[in-house]
Order: sequence, then structure tokens, then C-alpha cells
Amino acid sequence: MLYIHAMAKKRTGYICSSCGSESLRWMGKCPACGAWDTLEAVKHEPESAHRSLAAAWTVTHADDGAPTHAPQAVPLAQAGGDAPQSRLDTTIPELNRVLGGGIVPGSVILLGGDPGIGKSTLVLQALGALTRTGCRALYATSEESAQQVRLRADRLGLGDSCDDLFVLADTSLARIVEQAKRVEPGVLVLDSIQMVYTTEIDASPGSIAQLRRCCTELVYLAKASGMAVILVGHVTKEGALAGPKLLEHLVDVVLSFEGDRYHALRIVRSVKNRFGTTQELGLFAMEERGLIEVPDGASVAAETLGDDPQPGSAVTPTITGTRCVLAELQALTANGFPGSVKRKSSGLDASRLAMLIAVLEQRAGITLYDRDVFASVVGGCRIIEPAADLPL
Ligand code: TYD
Ligand code: MG
Repeated sequence: MLYIHAMAKKRTGYICSSCGSESLRWMGKCPACGAWDTLEAVKHEPESAHRSLAAAWTVTHADDGAPTHAPQAVPLAQAGGDAPQSRLDTTIPELNRVLGGGIVPGSVILLGGDPGIGKSTLVLQALGALTRTGCRALYATSEESAQQVRLRADRLGLGDSCDDLFVLADTSLARIVEQAKRVEPGVLVLDSIQMVYTTEIDASPGSIAQLRRCCTELVYLAKASGMAVILVGHVTKEGALAGPKLLEHLVDVVLSFEGDRYHALRIVRSVKNRFGTTQELGLFAMEERGLIEVPDGASVAAETLGDDPQPGSAVTPTITGTRCVLAELQALTANGFPGSVKRKSSGLDASRLAMLIAVLEQRAGITLYDRDVFASVVGGCRIIEPAADLPL
């Protein structure tokens, strides 16, 4: 018998670690996004190799009895079984809101954010809540030990009540999937994807090649097994998800966890959502015992909203998604040296602040050229609405 391995040939290409665009040659500057020294060599593997985990999970049998991994075309009405599975309710309304109503079974969610912002806390709380609804969950941690996760769970008040919440401290993708097969969870979490590796390719964990391969395998696995997969990812210095566009293309939902580390307010923003809107925000406050939801209509400026108004402070309603949040803006001017005055802003667009200062100089007759100007939004909020110009 003659076998032709046309597909099995490996080819080397280069992928930009910043925007994910591919090129055949190495270049110092990415032609797509203009970033310097971001192209990394990757081997293009035959497509079948990517599907190994998913294939091992579901082995179907063809008419002649031989095992086959090929999906079959079916009429739409029969697709996805008799009754399509409903979303998994996290019972955390703020999280459900950004997810578009809950976690879709078989979907892959990428949760990104700065280190220490509270990603692990959010995920563990969500899993704790999910397991109370009877859903089984596996939390694979590659950054902390199982004991550390246990300590955190105790702190979050999850305690011993979670019999359906399994913890695994491992970084090997194959072993994680093996355990997932044993536990059969409804939700599998990998915290974080940057530390997970597969032995099938020769690259260090966190590299573009590893990220891409692990993520692709997990996407196939999620679709084949019907379990939802949550990937926790770090953000680079520039604020983009590491291996960003690359993973964003592969997954169904991209959530970004934002906020100022020195303030309690945390915002979950949906950057991409195949099953819902990206307009919604989830608001949380980081407290002693984990993340507390900030209810609808609450104000971010609550602590400073007293009876007597403070100079330099204004509270403004801003629209985020379908909700209105009251945010507090603060501004201060001080004597500066003409020619080298400071203009600092946090939570506001710096060039917009510069423009407003110019307008005030030219039209309102306010002399600011020799004054330092500081402006900020309280609580780690970011405001991009032009409507914030007036309070500012
Ligand atoms: P963590 O979830 O470990 O962040 P990430 O996974 O994004 O790196 O959160 C760590 C921070 O959260 C840390 O600074 C302590 C704080 N924290 C609380 O304030 N309260 C809590 O109950 C917990 C668990 C953490
Ligand atoms: Mg963490």
C-alpha cells in the first residue's frame, strides 16, 4: 500500500508575539503592527497533530467499525444533541452580565489582567459558586501549590463545602487533560496558560509556540468534550494580553480584568464575546474576603460623596454598557515653572486634558501656562466619554 505524507512536512515560519501576524522570513520589525523584535520562530505542524487531545477524548466509530475522529455533517435541527445545553449559571450576577448570561458549555474563555489584580480570586470564587449549583469543576493551578489554593479558598469562605471543586497543581498539559478525563468537570480552569506546556513541541512555557499549541489543543478539547475551559492569562507591560491577538482569535470569549491595584474597585470588561455583547461591565470591589459585587447604580465615589462638596472634586454619571456609574473626577492646579509645567492625568486621556487646558486658556481666559495640572478619576475607573469634559 502506498501512503503519501504530503501534510506531514514541517515548515518554519515566524509569528509576531504582539499582534500574532505571520511571516515567512524573520524581520526586525513586524510589518503588521510595527513592533520591534517581536517575531518568533514557530514550526507549522500538520493539522492532525493539534487535535491529538480532542481525538483521544472522543473516538467515534465509522460504519465499518473502524475508529474515526472525523465529525459528520448533520441537519441543523439535530446538531448539538436533542436538547441544547443551557448556560452554566455562575450565580455571580456581575460575572454573568459580562459573559452574556453565564458560561456556555464547550466554550473557551480567556481572562486576562495585570499580575495581582485578582484573577485567581475571581476564578476561584466563580468555581466555588458554580459547584454549589451542582456543576463539577477542576482548577489546575500552575503558579501556586494546591495548599495555597486551599488557603485562598478558606479565606474566601468556600471552606469544606465544595466537594465538587477539584484542585490540581501541575503544568503539563497532557497530565492536566488526563486528570480532567478522570474528574469530568463541567468547567476546567488553567491558571495560568503562560505556565502550561506540552512536551510535543520544543519551546519554553509562555513562548508563542507553546501558547498557540496549548490553546489550540484546549479549544479542540472543549468542543469535543463539551466542558467549558477558562484560561487565565497575564498582561504585558504595554497592557496587551501576552500572546494577545493570537489567543484572542482562538477563544470564544476574552475578558479583561482591570483596575488600580491600590484601589478596591475591579472591572471585568468583555473584549470579545461570541455569545453576547461586549458592551457590558462587571464591577467588583476587592475586600478582605475576596471580591464583592458592586450593585447596579452604586457610585464609585461613595466614600467622598459627603454633604459638603470638596474643592476640585466633581461627581459625574458615566455610561458603561447598559448601566450608569457615578464616578468622581478630581483636579488640582499648583504653581509651576513656565516652560516646564507638569500635566498629569490618571483614568483620563492625557491629550484630551491638554486640549481642555488649551480651550480654557484661549476661550475662558484662565491662565494655566505657569500652573501644574493634575487630574484623575477616583477608584481606578477610566473615562473616555467626551461628556466628562464638563465636570473636568
Ligand atoms: P490574585 O487573585 O492572586 O491575583 P492574580 O491571580 O491576578 O495575580 O489576587 C491577589 C491580590 O488580591 C493580593 O494583592 C491580595 C488581594 N486579595 C484580597 O484583598 N482579598 C482576598 O480575599 C484575596 C483572596 C486576595
Ligand atoms: Mg494568580
